[in-house]
Amino acid sequence: MTVVRTDVAVVGGGPAGLLLSHLLDRAGVGTVVLDHRSHHEIATTVRAGILEQDSVRLLVESGASDRVLTEGEEHRGIELAFGGASHRIDFQELVGASVWLYPQTSVFADLAEARQAAGGDVRFGVSDVEVDGVEGDAPVVRFVGADGSRQEVRPRYVVGADGSHSTCRALVPATARRQYHREYPFAWFGILCEAPRSAPELVYCRSERGFALVSQRSETVQRMYFQCDPDEDVSGWSDDRIWDELQTRVGANGHTLVEGPVTDRAVLRFRSVVHEPMRYGRLLLAGDAAHTVPPTGAKGLNLALADVRVLAQCLQDAVRRRDAAGEDALDGYTERALARVWKAQHFSSWMTHLLHRPPGESDVEEQRQLAELRGLVESTAGRAYLAEGYTGWPEARG
Ligand code: DHB
Repeated sequence: MTVVRTDVAVVGGGPAGLLLSHLLDRAGVGTVVLDHRSHHEIATTVRAGILEQDSVRLLVESGASDRVLTEGEEHRGIELAFGGASHRIDFQELVGASVWLYPQTSVFADLAEARQAAGGDVRFGVSDVEVDGVEGDAPVVRFVGADGSRQEVRPRYVVGADGSHSTCRALVPATARRQYHREYPFAWFGILCEAPRSAPELVYCRSERGFALVSQRSETVQRMYFQCDPDEDVSGWSDDRIWDELQTRVGANGHTLVEGPVTDRAVLRFRSVVHEPMRYGRLLLAGDAAHTVPPTGAKGLNLALADVRVLAQCLQDAVRRRDAAGEDALDGYTERALARVWKAQHFSSWMTHLLHRPPGESDVEEQRQLAELRGLVESTAGRAYLAEGYTGWPEARG
């Protein structure tokens, strides 16, 4: 059995875990990162593609990624398409901010490369991860390495950045935690396709047949979504059927899609979930381990990066000081992180309800929704509200 002592053991080597390790390393705080998935599995799982302004700043200023600026694409606005027409929301004009189209897989690749270049201890493909002792002052993380050997990490703190199925989260006893949970009656059918882009910016589209979203990945690969039933079976959808559905939805609002072979298809369920607290003893949770937002507005990855920014500061204080004030800094983590989490929960839910058609929607509700959309695009304040939430609230405000 090999035993490693370090300051922070991070369970989860996705973008949240790797960025935390990167930021702590720069502050002289030691980390070991563990993930049961292989590097290849994480690098090829299709996820969202939009980064808020402050997410980009964090990645660039911390030296984690230059590529986001050279290969990522600045988007200065989006289109809202409904009622037979398309309306541009100009982020730069409204709030002086942009978002960047840069897929989560690229964020992961950059972070993994930066950790490797700095000699970081990141172990993919481990199994049987077991965390113990977070209630005391000497936690232990046991696991089996990718080579089959039994190993142990003895850190001062454990971070659960292990995604929406987090096992770390379960270490918080039921009497000490609260879970907020809501399921939505619809989902997204997401595709990747080989085709040139259909629009220069993202198009969020409300149609009689439900929501559709036109996003991009590169000059030759595009990402699109359409609202579907949560139990939809992807195998019932040929390329032709997918294109018919997408074309009908966007066509009603003046857009036409360039079609191509569909290379990936999956159903994404909609949930709003928050677990509190995000700190319990020596355990801290970050990203999807503590919260899930519905995908409309692409807040999930951005929230995880924002958690990590705050958590790195708190952990740095706690590890350096080793006193009560350091512990207090950790106590403040839950409140600081949750302020932004709940704002993002609201924003994602609001944008979802603005554009989706729930099953059994009444005629009153349909007209109300169209009036809300019209009111929004006709009002500078309304468009600015959307632009501010979409590009991300400034750091100082959570
Ligand atoms: C993407 C995903 C989203 O949830 C969104 O709101 C915008 C874009 C994407 O995957 O490109």
